[in-house]
Amino acid sequence: MRLLAPVAALLAVHGASAQLHQLAVAAGKMYFGSATDNGELNDAAYVRILTDPNEFGQTTPGNGQKWQYTQPSRGSFSYSSGDQIANFAKTNNMILRCHTLVWHSQLPSWVSSGSWTKEQLTSIIETHIANVAGHYRGQCYAWDVVNEALNEDGTFRTSVFYTVLGESFIPIAFKAAAAADPDAKLYYNDYNIENTGAKQAATLRIIGSIKQAGGRIDGVGMQAHLIVGSTPSQRNLEAAMNSYVAAGASEVTYTELDIRFSSLPPTAAGLRTQADDYATVTRACLAVDACIGITIWDFTDKYSWIPNTFPGQGAALLYDENFSKKPAWTAVSTVLAAAATGGPGPSTTLTTVTTTTTTGAPAPTCTAAKWGQCGGDGWTGCTIA
Ligand code: G3I
Repeated sequence: MRLLAPVAALLAVHGASAQLHQLAVAAGKMYFGSATDNGELNDAAYVRILTDPNEFGQTTPGNGQKWQYTQPSRGSFSYSSGDQIANFAKTNNMILRCHTLVWHSQLPSWVSSGSWTKEQLTSIIETHIANVAGHYRGQCYAWDVVNEALNEDGTFRTSVFYTVLGESFIPIAFKAAAAADPDAKLYYNDYNIENTGAKQAATLRIIGSIKQAGGRIDGVGMQAHLIVGSTPSQRNLEAAMNSYVAAGASEVTYTELDIRFSSLPPTAAGLRTQADDYATVTRACLAVDACIGITIWDFTDKYSWIPNTFPGQGAALLYDENFSKKPAWTAVSTVLAAAATGGPGPSTTLTTVTTTTTTGAPAPTCTAAKWGQCGGDGWTGCTIA
């Protein structure tokens, strides 16, 4: 891990108030970042925090670069939403991760409901990527080229792309992205691939198939939409990252980290568990050189996607709805600060892990597989290991 000379001075000056991005950089990472979205940029209190260069050094548009917005009808491209975030990143010297080119969701119906031949859909993918990645050429540190292609069991998700083209849609997309923006790092991005298992093994096969087809893939983005008390162990997180590197990814990153409560409001003990979970993910990234940084999927509970998708759940981020820092913020900054000063950081939990329900009721009987619920697929209950 690279240590910067002024770290000790930085920590001496800032002490406990040293902030996430400056600490992450001092610990040898490229960034600590937060996604954002267009509507939120009208909130002055929100923008003040997001634009603090010590706190966040990277951003990702939560929506504006998706197909639904960039090519809502065939051949008609629109970049106003994506440009607003790209320009915001530029103005504030933030690294921009671009998201996303080929995804089954937020895909206009002219694509998803069309009846295409292989040649037609290949051309549609290539044209979309040539235009969108071409438009942002030179501005994106990385592109999430293909997003969420896998089911939980490691098979391919049904989508117009897979139905018409089979697995070949993935190398087609990566080759088109490499041509459109040769300097952008090209990522496969998905949820529930933070841990080892069927979906992680399938991700390894995706890396292999892109390379075998003569394409370029640089990184794996692990979304990391996690649940308080069910975060994978540091060891498993590291094992998954190391497997991607061994398969040929030169870098990995947490692209959409949030750790949600399945029932609200959180208890004080729950907030401590959440803090421990965030610390575990941060430590795992620090332990793997190829892990270049961490992006949280927005930084405040005020603008989290979770309550819309999972009603009754949330409180998943580092700042609460009133922009107060939560125990999880302190945990992340503590772990980063320890790494920045050359220490390994606490190797066990920062706080006592106590899992309680807000009602004190016995734990419910769970039927869903432990990692099957993230990413907005409609799961509403608890999970089994
Ligand atoms: O743009 C419309 C607006 O015109 C309308 O007035 C408003 C009314 O609800 O909806 C707006 O669209 C919403 C859009 O976000 C922009 O705010 C959609 O309803 C809403 O479904 C959409 O949610 C986004 C979600 O992806 C869609 O799947 C979330 O903001 C975004 O954070 C979330 O991000 C995804 C990543 O891209 C991929 N990984 C999972 C992650 C969480 O689901």
